[in-house]
Amino acid sequence: MSKKIPLLIDTDPGVDDALALLMAFADERHEVIGLTVAAGNVGLEYTVRNALKLCEVAGREDVPVFAGTPDPLVYPAEDAAHVHGRDGFGDVDLPHAACQVQAEHAALAILRLSHEYAGELLLVALGPLTNIALALKLDPTLPQRVKRFLVMGGAINGHGNITPVAEFNIAFDPEAAHIVFTSFPHIEVADWEATIAHGMLHRSVETWLAADSDKARFYELISRKTRLWSEDSRGEHWYAADALAMAWALQPDGATQLEQRPLSIELTGARTRGATVVDWNRQTGAPDNTTLLVGYDQARFEAQVQRALGA
Ligand code: BDR
Ligand code: CA
Repeated sequence: MSKKIPLLIDTDPGVDDALALLMAFADERHEVIGLTVAAGNVGLEYTVRNALKLCEVAGREDVPVFAGTPDPLVYPAEDAAHVHGRDGFGDVDLPHAACQVQAEHAALAILRLSHEYAGELLLVALGPLTNIALALKLDPTLPQRVKRFLVMGGAINGHGNITPVAEFNIAFDPEAAHIVFTSFPHIEVADWEATIAHGMLHRSVETWLAADSDKARFYELISRKTRLWSEDSRGEHWYAADALAMAWALQPDGATQLEQRPLSIELTGARTRGATVVDWNRQTGAPDNTTLLVGYDQARFEAQVQRALGA
């Protein structure tokens, strides 16, 4: 078998992060070389605890987990505990994992691993971009060593989920997002609107979660609260943003529609802070710094989810 693609995931688990991580661990073509953990869905203490737990459930305690920065770079932000539970994993009182977080800071780990896997690294960001922005400030040459960088974030036509125009990961730390989107020459973006276009039927997800596997049982438990919330507030489809982003990261040829455009982050608008402004008509003359996911093969996405759950 050919050499595996090294995959570094920056994440804030989070129920949909957890599904994305299970997908990454289940993929034979990729080797997860570390999890760098951001604050976001809930506070850093919980997101680190959840990342460790996920490694344990996946039987991958060998994967190092690095804690990042507990706050956004400049302004405080509200978490998403109303979606993911106060502890980020559905408030089901899970015992803590036995494995421990590494001493190295996430931003330093990103830089070190970018040297170790220079020219090969696939970097996937599933949370606010605080750690990656810090890494860029410490070493602006980081993008030269990253082969592919994919971000779950933004709302490319301005249909946000946390404000009318902004998506959570970008809105949580817009300054970090600005640093990241002005430093990397090219970023692949799986936004909230792509998430909405690729919902999974709750009834199907429930069938997969009934599978006789430890991963399915674990995921049924931690996602129960958020799935109920989702069904109440958003209807018959479940939207797993980070899982869709990971599907594209792992199987890029599953994309059915992609667009390339300049994208910038709004920092100051009284109603639009945190928006991802896409220059659809290329009026600014800025280079196309993003590839935007518009369509992904739904069957292929769902097959990856099922496989990750052992269903
Ligand atoms: C994103 O925000 C978080 O709540 C999810 O984990 C996902 O990364 C969706 O807007
Ligand atoms: Ca996330």
